[in-house]
Amino acid sequence: MAVRASTVGDVFAGAYGRPPAGLWAAPGRVNLIGEHTDYNDGFALPFALAHRVVCAAAPRADGQARVRSQQAPEEEVTVGIADLGPGTVSGWAAYPLGVLWALQAAGHPVGGVDLLLDGDVPLGAGLSSSAAVECAVALAVSELSGLDLDRTALAGIARRAENDIVGAPTGVLDQMISLHGRAGHLMLLDTRSMQVESVPFDLDRRGLVLLVFDTRAPHRLVDGAYAERRRACERAAAHLGLPALRDLDVAALDGPAFASLPAELRRRTRHVVTENARVLAVVAALRADADPRVVGPLLTASHLSLRDDFEVTVPELDVAVEAALGAGAHGARMTGGGFGGCVIALVDSARAPDVSDAVAAAFRDSGFSAPRSFVTRPAVGAHRIA
Ligand code: GLA
Repeated sequence: MAVRASTVGDVFAGAYGRPPAGLWAAPGRVNLIGEHTDYNDGFALPFALAHRVVCAAAPRADGQARVRSQQAPEEEVTVGIADLGPGTVSGWAAYPLGVLWALQAAGHPVGGVDLLLDGDVPLGAGLSSSAAVECAVALAVSELSGLDLDRTALAGIARRAENDIVGAPTGVLDQMISLHGRAGHLMLLDTRSMQVESVPFDLDRRGLVLLVFDTRAPHRLVDGAYAERRRACERAAAHLGLPALRDLDVAALDGPAFASLPAELRRRTRHVVTENARVLAVVAALRADADPRVVGPLLTASHLSLRDDFEVTVPELDVAVEAALGAGAHGARMTGGGFGGCVIALVDSARAPDVSDAVAAAFRDSGFSAPRSFVTRPAVGAHRIA
């Protein structure tokens, strides 16, 4: 259910005995394509969801931070901002409090603050509910503290909270799209230059929709597998004598240096190199105003690469992709880190009910919990709402 600013303001006043000084919202994301490229200096093409986290905030004079969440209403956490550091907070409060620490660690003094969070980004579904929390708090606290930080700097701070306080060694994809998202547009992110460019993405005009299937297979980035993939990419780049796998082009996959990699690193490398090329191919097609149906096979190729070369899919993701394609989707793939989470499918609007039914039926046949599905369109990035 959508989060209403007035309700969040009222709950804040009830909990803390005074109205908030303002309310800020930041969205979750879907990554159309460009997976596990962001920590290889590569390219990604995400968009912001309409699902978002709202943060109500008011300053305090005593250097304390109090935080509450409507998703964990029994629990209020209070901590002195000066006492924050790696290992000092755990659970859901690590996301908002991690941002306060990261702001300070980057040299930006923040005062005390009361925070209340509410959100409708599905939790643990790989749609970046965590980045939505971090970015809503980062924007709220930086504006309240009068800090003059641009959105890319804020994304770096939010990512640092995730890496150093939450303990998930992610890239910066999720935080960048939450802060830079633009309605009706994808965002081409170059994680080396940190440049972002908008790419129009109007599916309605073409009689298409993008369906999201939450497979409800639990997804955990703090677990070791994500970090292990990241280390494998770093080892491969070191073996090849390159700063990052971004520096290898597709033609080099036929060359002797690539062939000299151990088999597992070859597979990981091939995914990253071909995925970067697929991102750029999708962008080229959309910029040329091609029918978006032509990007379908690139989405599917991305999934197969994540399944066979990067090995981050699980049966729920593979079954959803197969069922969606079998029912006429133009392309389908997992989105996000993998190991659970969501699948997206590019579908003719008229066929959307059939594709949803086919995925639900395939899940029943496989003995999986029923998936949740919804249609999504690129929405606006983080902003002040009151
Ligand atoms: C997670 C991480 C991102 C990115 C994706 C995979 O969402 O948070 O930084 O690495 O996985 O593309």
